[in-house]
Amino acid sequence: MSAIALIGAPGSGKSTLGPLLAQRLDVPFVDVDAVIEEREGRSIRDIFADDGEDAFRALEATVTLELLTGSGVVSLGGGAPLTPQIAEALDGVPTVWLQVDAHHAVTRIGLDQGRPLLAGGGIRGTLIALLKARTPVYASLATVSVDTNGREPDALVDVIVAAL
Ligand code: S3P
Repeated sequence: MSAIALIGAPGSGKSTLGPLLAQRLDVPFVDVDAVIEEREGRSIRDIFADDGEDAFRALEATVTLELLTGSGVVSLGGGAPLTPQIAEALDGVPTVWLQVDAHHAVTRIGLDQGRPLLAGGGIRGTLIALLKARTPVYASLATVSVDTNGREPDALVDVIVAAL
């Protein structure tokens, strides 16, 4: 079995749904951000702060491309699909887009300040802008699109498994 990619904005539920989906399909789950943090020995937030976003995106591309050649459910960072190399690598990989609106994303994220692009207040406004810019990219890459707003994880896993 090849990889199954999970894409979507921060707060779309990738980290919650990914492990549940993998369990249901009886395949491994891997989170790209977690692998980057483990390999680097520092948080995504520190990588952004120390080296800047471009350096993070380069690391993200290397790790994402590697993990997409493996098997199991691979959860991508919210901004990953905007990197052309990653978008190309998704061609031919079943790609599940977890759709979320800003309201539900903010509720899920809460006050988590571990996300550098959302730090510093104005999370809702930042998410609205980010969703506007990214939605066409996510839509163009998705083989399965699921509206997650207000829906429970187990029900969403049912929908995804049926659609894959
Ligand atoms: C990012 C999302 C984060 C992480 C990094 C950048 C983004 O992942 O990769 O902070 O550009 O939206 P999540 O989508 O898991 O929050």
